[in-house]
Amino acid sequence: MTSSAIAVTGLRKAYGDKVVLDGIDLDVRAGTVFSLLGPNGAGKTTTVNVLTTLMKADGGTARVAGHDIATETKAVRAAIGVTGQFAAVDELLSGQENLQLMVDLHRMRSGEGRRIVTELLERFELAESAQKLVSTYSGGMRRKLDLAMTLVGSPRIIFLDEPTTGLDPRSRRTMWGIVRELVADGVTIFLTTQYLEEADQLADRIAVLDQGRLVAQGTPDDLKRQIPGTHVRLRFTTGPELDTAAGLFTDSTRDDEALTLRVPSDGGTTSLRALLDRLDTHSLSAEEFSVHTPDLDDVFLALTGHTTKVDAK
Ligand SMILES: Nc1ncnc2c1ncn2[C@@H]1O[C@H](COP(=O)(O)OP(=O)(O)OP(=O)(O)O)[C@@H](O)[C@H]1O
Ligand SMILES: [Mg+2]
Repeated sequence: MTSSAIAVTGLRKAYGDKVVLDGIDLDVRAGTVFSLLGPNGAGKTTTVNVLTTLMKADGGTARVAGHDIATETKAVRAAIGVTGQFAAVDELLSGQENLQLMVDLHRMRSGEGRRIVTELLERFELAESAQKLVSTYSGGMRRKLDLAMTLVGSPRIIFLDEPTTGLDPRSRRTMWGIVRELVADGVTIFLTTQYLEEADQLADRIAVLDQGRLVAQGTPDDLKRQIPGTHVRLRFTTGPELDTAAGLFTDSTRDDEALTLRVPSDGGTTSLRALLDRLDTHSLSAEEFSVHTPDLDDVFLALTGHTTKVDAK
């Protein structure tokens, strides 16, 4: 019990008659990164909102930092930091002023507050833009400032809702580095993401959310064992060509509708050449050829039998 930073049982939430969370159970050990992975509309933000007491659950129980989210709202709020999906920064203030606002809210001594503001601006590569109005910041800069603001009170449990969506690769790495530093300091991170790679990089445990239910939960390795690894994807122009190719590569998986074949491969040049030679020998040419490392779509296909796009009705 003491080692659980977040413990959730049977959590339910509906908007009207639309069930968004349909009985979620999860347990996040203190000092670890837990990643909730899911496509648009899966219920990630709803989960974060409920666990951070911004929204009431319809059923189930959850304890955050040992406190009941329904009856001990204040204690939960005191223990956590939240960086929402959309940056909650004041556009009409500078970066530094936004941080100072948080320092004031936490009633820090002024010397201490100044030190923290300077340190955070440096750490998030915002020192140069510190005096500029946030309305002139790029999306990535806003996200970084938002996270910096969350860190002002040194919360022991931090919720990050898609912290890297829309960030360029460098900013994404900066964000990952910061998450790792926080965890090294013993902070617990609850992170939502749409990126399998991100969950793989950061998380001790991953839960996959699909239409309000957890369809898998485990370590990144547990999860990867359940999904196809690196593979080559071939697209043909006709059904008979697909038939012939599927006969050649017996460990492949075919999609008759898309006329594609997925052939397991290590992606190395030797095996790719062998594969192409084999197609050539049988006078087969693929219209499209790509080497594919698993992404969220593969996770969904493997775990649910449908891709993430199914729900985009
Ligand atoms: N205030 C609301 N009223 C009605 N329906 C809502 C409301 N907020 C969210 N929903 C619905 O609940 C479902 C889950 O939404 P949620 O925001 O939790 O998804 P998400 O996993 O965070 O998605 P994204 O990756 O797009 O941020 C969606 O179908 C959404 O339309
Ligand atoms: Mg969301």
